[in-house]
Amino acid sequence: MDIFRTKSVEQSIRDTEEPEHQLRKRLSALDLTVFGIGVIVGTGIFVLTGQVAKLTAGPAVALGFVVSGVVCGLAALCYAEFASTIPVAGSAYTFSFATLGEFPAWVIGWDLMLEMALAAAVVAVGWSGYFAALLESIGIHLPAWMAGEAPVVNLPAIVIVLILTVILVLGIKLSSRVNEVIVAIKVSVILLVIIAGLFFIKAANYTPFIPPAISTPAVAGLKAPLIQVLFGITPVSFGVIGIFSAAAVVFFAFIGFDIVATAAEETIDPQRDVPRGILGSLAICTVLYVAVSLVVVGMQNYTKLSTKAPLAEAFTAVGQNWAAALISIGAIAGLTTVVMILMLGQSRVLFAMCRDGLLPRQLSIVHPKYGTPARLTIIVGLVSAALSGFISLGALAELVNIGTLFAFVVVSAGVIILRRTRPDLHRGFRAPWVPVLPILSIIACFYLMLNLPVETWLRFIIWMVIGSIIYFLYGYRHSRAVRSRTTEPTPPPVPGTF
Ligand code: ALA
Repeated sequence: MDIFRTKSVEQSIRDTEEPEHQLRKRLSALDLTVFGIGVIVGTGIFVLTGQVAKLTAGPAVALGFVVSGVVCGLAALCYAEFASTIPVAGSAYTFSFATLGEFPAWVIGWDLMLEMALAAAVVAVGWSGYFAALLESIGIHLPAWMAGEAPVVNLPAIVIVLILTVILVLGIKLSSRVNEVIVAIKVSVILLVIIAGLFFIKAANYTPFIPPAISTPAVAGLKAPLIQVLFGITPVSFGVIGIFSAAAVVFFAFIGFDIVATAAEETIDPQRDVPRGILGSLAICTVLYVAVSLVVVGMQNYTKLSTKAPLAEAFTAVGQNWAAALISIGAIAGLTTVVMILMLGQSRVLFAMCRDGLLPRQLSIVHPKYGTPARLTIIVGLVSAALSGFISLGALAELVNIGTLFAFVVVSAGVIILRRTRPDLHRGFRAPWVPVLPILSIIACFYLMLNLPVETWLRFIIWMVIGSIIYFLYGYRHSRAVRSRTTEPTPPPVPGTF
C-alpha cells in the first residue's frame, strides 16, 4: 500500500497539458498581485483591528500586524519558491504530492477546504451583515428572517455567493477584471482612512504605546488555548507578550496571499510572476495594515475603540459621519472579492485533486468556451451558498486559521525536502537561507496554532479523520498514480519542460 508515493514534478506539469484539463493562461504579475490584495484585505482589517487594540495590545496592535506580517512573509517565501518550481493549480496540495506523497497531499487538499470553502461561507455571512447595515442606514430594512441576528435563511449571503460563482464560471480574465474594479474601491477607502485620519490623530492616544501587561483569567475547558492546556501558559493581554497574542489573532487578516499560488496554472509566465504576485500583495497589505492601525489608534483612545466597526466608529467619534458610510462601502467591496477569490482557490485545488483521480475525474473537465473548471466552480458555489445561508458559522471561524497554518507548516517543510530530493530543478525563485528560513516559518506557524482553542484542535482532528476515511474508500483506489503504476511505466520526463 504505497500511499507515500510522490508524483514527479515533471508529471505534475505534463498533466496540465492534457487538452480536456487545460486551464487558460491569461494572468500577469499585476493581475496576481491584485488577486492577492482582493483576497487578503477583508474582515481582518475592517473588524479585528479594533478588537485586538482594545482587548489585547493597545496601540501596539500595529506591532502585532508587523509580527504577523513577518510570520506570513516567511511562509510566503516558501510558497513563492514552490509555485515557481511547480506552477500547477493545486498549490499546497500539489507541492505536498511532489514531496511527501499521495496520502499527505490528500490530507492537505482536504485541509485546504477549511481555508477556502469554509472561509468563503464565513466571510459571506460577514458580507451580509455589512450589507444589511448599509441598507439600514438609507432606510431599507431587510426582514429578520433573511438578515437578522439569527436568520432562517441568510438570503443576501446566498445571493452574493451565487453571483460570484457565475462570474468565476465565465472566465478567469473576467473574474480578474471584476476583482480589479472592486479592489480599486476598497484600497481607495483604506487610503482615505489613512490620509483623512492623519488630520485627527492626537499624540496623547499613543501613550502608553505598549500598555502594561495584565494576565487574563485562565480560560477553562475546550475554549482554552492548547498552549495553556499543554504547558500551563495563560494568555496575557497587553505588554510585549500581548503583541504576540495580537499577532495570532490578526493572522486572519493576512490569509489569502497563498491562494495566489492556486492561479499559477493560469498565469502566462508563472515562474517569474507568481512569486511577484504572492510577495507583492503581502508586502502591500502589510504596509496598509500597519498604517491603518496606527491611524485608528491615534484617532481614538484604544480603550474606546469599537469592536464591530472600528474604522467607521473612529471617524464618527471625531464628528466625521460622512466617512463612516464610505468605509461601510469599502468593507462590503472588500469582503466581496475575499469571497470570490476564496472560491476561486477552492475550485482550483479540487480541480487538481480530481485530475489526479483522488476525487471523480470527470469533474475536472474544463469548460470548452470559458476555459474554467465550470463544474467544480458550480459545486463550490452551491456548497458555500448552502453553508452561508443555513448554518451559523461564527464558532467555526478559527478552523480557517488552523487549516491555513497547517498548510503553511507543510509547505515550509516541503521546500527543505524538495531542495534535497530534487536539487536539479529549475527554480524561478529561490527562498533565501534554506533550511533556516523554512524552519523558522514552521516554528512560527506552529506557535500560532498552539494559541488556538482546544475545541478548534478537536474539530480540526475530526475533519482530518473524515478526510482520511474518504481517501481510503475512494481516492486510494481511483488515484491515477496507482493506476499508472500497475498498467504502464511512468514515461520519461519531457525534455525542455523547464
Ligand atoms: N484575509 C481575509 C480577511 O481578512 C480572509 O477577511
